Amino acid sequence: MKAVLLALALSTDALIAPQRSFGGARRAAKSSAVTMSASKKILVTIVDNLSRRNIDTELGCDSLTPITHPEVRLEAWKELTGKTIHFENLDVATEYDRLELLMKTVRPDSVVHFAEQRAAPYSQKGAKQKRYTVDNNVCGTHNLLAAVVEADCNTHVVHLGTMGVYGYGTSGGEIPEGYIDVILPGGRESKILHPAYPGSVYHTTKCLDALLFQFYNKNDGVRVTDLHQGIVWGTNTPLTGMDERLTNRFDYDGDYGTVLNRFLMQAALGVPLTVYGTGGQTRGFIHVTDTAKCIELAINNPPAEGEGVEIFNQVAETRRVRDIAEMISSNTGVPARFLANPRQEAAENELDVSNRKFRALGFEPTLLNDKLFEEVQDVTNKYKDRCIPTKILPASFWNKKRALAAEADGEARSDIKLPEAVASR
Ligand SMILES: NC(=O)c1ccc[n+]([C@@H]2O[C@H](COP(=O)([O-])OP(=O)(O)OC[C@H]3O[C@@H](n4cnc5c(N)ncnc54)[C@H](O)[C@@H]3O)[C@@H](O)[C@H]2O)c1
Repeated sequence: MKAVLLALALSTDALIAPQRSFGGARRAAKSSAVTMSASKKILVTIVDNLSRRNIDTELGCDSLTPITHPEVRLEAWKELTGKTIHFENLDVATEYDRLELLMKTVRPDSVVHFAEQRAAPYSQKGAKQKRYTVDNNVCGTHNLLAAVVEADCNTHVVHLGTMGVYGYGTSGGEIPEGYIDVILPGGRESKILHPAYPGSVYHTTKCLDALLFQFYNKNDGVRVTDLHQGIVWGTNTPLTGMDERLTNRFDYDGDYGTVLNRFLMQAALGVPLTVYGTGGQTRGFIHVTDTAKCIELAINNPPAEGEGVEIFNQVAETRRVRDIAEMISSNTGVPARFLANPRQEAAENELDVSNRKFRALGFEPTLLNDKLFEEVQDVTNKYKDRCIPTKILPASFWNKKRALAAEADGEARSDIKLPEAVASR
C-alpha cells in the first residue's frame, strides 16, 4: 500500500517531520486506510503559502533567528538525511481547486493542519487583521475538510488547536479533554463539547474550526484529532537543530512573540521582562520538541471509523506568568516590569488541565527547566543583534480601553531600555 503522510503547512518555519518507518497503532486496526504494517513508508509534503513571511514584511520585523528560503531548507534536509520533502506553495483558504486536486493525487493517510494565522495579538490589531484571521483560518479548515470528502481518501485530519478555546476564566476545576458530561434540563445525561470561551478573534477561529470538525465527522465520517495546544516554547527540535539552515522561527515582537520565549530573549538582552497586568494569568506550556512528539502520537493513534472527534490537551504543565518571570529574573538578574495589559482578560486565573490521554499513550512531558532555558538563551545571544528594539513592546490592544491604558502607562513603557549595542541599530 502506498502510504502517504501529507503534512499540510507543516510550517516551513516551524517543524520538519522525518520520513521514517513505524509500527502498529493503538486504534488504527479498525481502519483499513490507516492500518500500519510493520514498516511503513512515509512521504512528507509541506503545503504553505508563505503568508507568515509576508506578515513579517507587514510588521517590519523578522524572526530573531534567520529563516532560510523553503528551497534552502529542503536542500539542507536532503543533504543531511538523503530524503526529499516535497513543497507546494498553495493557499489552502483561497485555492480550493488546487487543494482538492492535491488530495485526490496524494490520497494521504494523515494531514497535519498547521496552516492558520496563529497570533492572538495580531488578530486584534485592527479590522483588516481580524477579517484576515477569520477568512484565512476558518476557510482553510473548511476547504481541507471539503477536499477530504471530495477526494474520498479517508484521511485522518490532525489539527493544531489551542487551549484558548476553553477560555482562561477561573474554570472551577480541571479542564477535561474537549468534552464534558452534563445533565440537561429534564435530567437527561449528555456528553457535550466543553463550552467555547474564546479570548480573541484568533481563539474564536479555533472554536469555529471545532464546530466544523463536529459537523464533518457526524455527516461524512471524517476522522479528526484536534490538539488543544498550550503555548509553545523553545527553539529547535533535535532535527531542526542539526543545521543552522533548518532553524525554527523565534518571534520576540509584541504581536507574535509568545510569553516564555519573549522573557528568555529579553533576559538574554538584559531588557526588563515585560509582564502584562499583574502577571496573574495562568497558561499551559509545551516545549517545541514535545509538540513534535505529541503530533507523532496523534498520527499513530487515529480515531477508528465511526468514532467522534478526538480531542487531546497538548500541554506539559501550567504556570503563572509572574512566576515564570520571577524564575527567569532570579536566574539572570534581569528585573521584570509590569505593563498595562493589552488584553481584555481576567487579571488572575487558575488553570488546571488534564493531559491524561497523551500520558496514557506514553507522553512524558518536558518541564520548564534551566537547561532548556540555556538552549534558548544561546540562540538569543547568538542572534541578539538582529533584534529591532522598538518591536518588543505590545503593539496590538484588545479594545480602546486597553489602548488608552497603555498610553497612560508611558512611564513603565519608557523604562524598557535596551543595551547600547542593540539600541543603536
Ligand atoms: N506557536 C504556538 O505557541 C501555538 C500554540 C497553540 C497552537 N498553535 C497552532 O499551531 C499551528 C502552527 O503554529 P506555528 O507557531 O508553527 O505558526 P507559524 O505561523 O510558524 O506556522 C503556520 C504556517 O501556516 C502557513 N499558513 C497560514 N495560512 C495559510 C494558508 N491559508 N495556506 C497555506 N499556508 C498557510 C504560514 O505561512 C505558516 O508557515 C497554528 O495553527 C497555531 O494556531 C501554535
